[in-house]
Amino acid sequence: MVNFTQETTSATLTIGDRVIELPLVVGTEGEVAIDIRQLRQQTDGVAINGNLVPGGVISFDPGYKNTGSCQSEITYINGEEGILRYRGYNIADLAKKGYRFIDVAMLIIFGELPTAAERANFRDLLTHNELLDEDMRKFFDSLPPHGDPMAILSAAVQCSSLYNPELRAIDPADPEGFTLAAAKLLSKVRTIAAFSYKKAIGQPIRYPNPELDYVRNFLHMMFSIPNKPYHASETEVDALNLFLTLHADHEQNCSTSTVRMVGSSKANLFDSASSGISALAGPLHGGANIAVVNMLEKVSREETTVNELIGLAKSKKIKLPGFGHRLYKKYDPRARIIKQKVDKLLGELNHDAPLFTIAQQLEEIALTDDYFIAKRLYPNVDFYSGIMLRAIGIPVNMFTVMFAMARMAGWIAQWREEMLTPGAAIQRPRQVYTGAPERTIDWEMGI
Ligand code: ACO
Repeated sequence: MVNFTQETTSATLTIGDRVIELPLVVGTEGEVAIDIRQLRQQTDGVAINGNLVPGGVISFDPGYKNTGSCQSEITYINGEEGILRYRGYNIADLAKKGYRFIDVAMLIIFGELPTAAERANFRDLLTHNELLDEDMRKFFDSLPPHGDPMAILSAAVQCSSLYNPELRAIDPADPEGFTLAAAKLLSKVRTIAAFSYKKAIGQPIRYPNPELDYVRNFLHMMFSIPNKPYHASETEVDALNLFLTLHADHEQNCSTSTVRMVGSSKANLFDSASSGISALAGPLHGGANIAVVNMLEKVSREETTVNELIGLAKSKKIKLPGFGHRLYKKYDPRARIIKQKVDKLLGELNHDAPLFTIAQQLEEIALTDDYFIAKRLYPNVDFYSGIMLRAIGIPVNMFTVMFAMARMAGWIAQWREEMLTPGAAIQRPRQVYTGAPERTIDWEMGI
């Protein structure tokens, strides 16, 4: 039983023969957490039902639905109200003002939106570090055709750091070294992403063009071929900047927690980021927009219907891709922004939009359905993001790679915050053992 005391500075826990006080931690926006860091010490030897518990008790929260793993100054989410802010700025305002992804990445990583001079300096760093070591060509050449781009990305990010051993030992407290490492990682992940695509489709690798900004350069490496340059339209560049901005950070989700957990062992930035890419690859996390597009295509090919999909979700045979979120119990603010942009994008590119129409039908039915209302299931960012990427020409198997490129900004910031947290310990959860009680070996039995 946990009761808040009058002063609301602590919680009282009654357990067995003991009553203990647990302090509260209060966040900027009034979020409250019960600090259980001393729980085991405070309950060491407590008597429960007549049994003494040596070592004390622990909390039990698989999936961490009720557990805070850190204090963070980077991103604020209020899922009940559908709010997302980076360093205090509302995501809708950042999107409306039209900040480019690199501005937003700098905000997330360094804490402030850049001045013109800071932007120019960082852009120079990105440009100077956009090439991979030429030996990395052998790495790409050694891969089997049609390899999963996320597996390639994860391996290549780690591999690229081997050519810059100094990066594997940067001091997160050294602003200059950290800024250089952040720029290298952001720049190289874009080059690797485009190279892995070219490799997968059997086209020659295109080197970055130092004249182009971050997003244009990426589109150039993805879509130009030696005998045909590619010119991205302003509409496509804007849409991709928006996509990257909306995915740049999302507090302690599965991949970010992975980055922080790996970093808590003092693993370097590149190894930690690479593990984040692996975590993001799962269909319940970064892969959901692929599932959404596949589902919408099935409807457009008349292999299923919108109503059939809703029925399957309600009977728990499937989880409707692109719906639901661990935090958002209202419309995901990113989904709202992307949906508006997709509408504009398809109009401006003169694309016919059967998938968008089907998605809107699905949303309309779901939002008025009792099951979805009761469970507070709304479209998440993935519901419309795949349609946006598809309209820009990004192939489905690159969707999660695009997400990883964006989230690199958040991972870099979160890794550094983890490393610089005073007194941070290696992350090491506990467990409740439910296996066999102690058994003895039958010494007569043969091996
Ligand atoms: N369709 C149908 N029912 C759903 C859906 C869905 N998409 N999502 C959740 N539910 C139901 C669950 O079956 C559960 O029902 P119950 O209470 O009767 O058991 C209830 O809603 C709560 O769902 P959980 O799975 O417990 O919620 P959780 O927070 O663990 O999972 C998740 C959130 C993984 C996003 C889930 O909603 C899901 O699988 N959605 C589809 C995949 C998806 O879109 N993922 C992208 C997430 S956003 C991102 O990573 C960028």
